[in-house]
Amino acid sequence: MKDIIIAIDGYSSCGKSTFAKAIAAALGYTFIDSGAMYRAVTLYALRHGLVAGDGRVLERQLVATLPRIDIRLAYSPERGASDVFLNGENVSEELRLTPVAGHVSRVSELAEVRRRMVAMQQEMGRRKAIVMDGRDIGTVVFPQAELKIFMTAAPEIRAMRRYQELLAKGASATLEEIERSVRQRDETDENRAVSPLRKAPDAVLLDNSHLSVGEQLAWVMQRIRQKQEEI
Ligand code: DC
Repeated sequence: MKDIIIAIDGYSSCGKSTFAKAIAAALGYTFIDSGAMYRAVTLYALRHGLVAGDGRVLERQLVATLPRIDIRLAYSPERGASDVFLNGENVSEELRLTPVAGHVSRVSELAEVRRRMVAMQQEMGRRKAIVMDGRDIGTVVFPQAELKIFMTAAPEIRAMRRYQELLAKGASATLEEIERSVRQRDETDENRAVSPLRKAPDAVLLDNSHLSVGEQLAWVMQRIRQKQEEI
């Protein structure tokens, strides 16, 4: 079977990473969480005083330091997920915490940051056999990807999933608050000036509002086999 590139884009809290990871595991492909790369740059900016008190990113300074930011992803069999190394330090846990989550959308809006991340992502896909998830993978990073999937689910369903996840972790939040933030993020992702979230014309739409991960996997494996037979 020929190795292919699988690009998965879509709204936040749609289960893109879970799905991408499951596909990669089934095929023995490398899974790349492109959001984690933007989060790593954000963590670097926060640690180096490149975010002002009002949340503004000091763009010129950050762009000047980009060559000093080394990001590597390595699969960790114990965690069943990729570890992210920022200049050699494993920062996987920190990338999920509030300070990073609160500033990453501003950092990922910067054209020069995107240019650099896209170049790194394209390099990672040079030998194919990857599944990458993000917002611009099928449109900008790999417009030639053999299989593109655009994921969505009803905002209230995504909010409920996120709510249950948080409850399970012992965090407190109301469903209304979470739904508001899900809708807010959709709005930001769709309307930003650089690489807004768009479905590539040749991407297949996957609305997983009422699908389990197993059902989604069965659906995608059939499409992957079809693609591999075509090429
Ligand atoms: O998927 P995530 O929540 O980890 O993404 C974190 C942020 O990075 C989010 O604000 C969207 C942005 N992002 C992006 O602009 N382009 C990507 N390819 C992936 C994520």
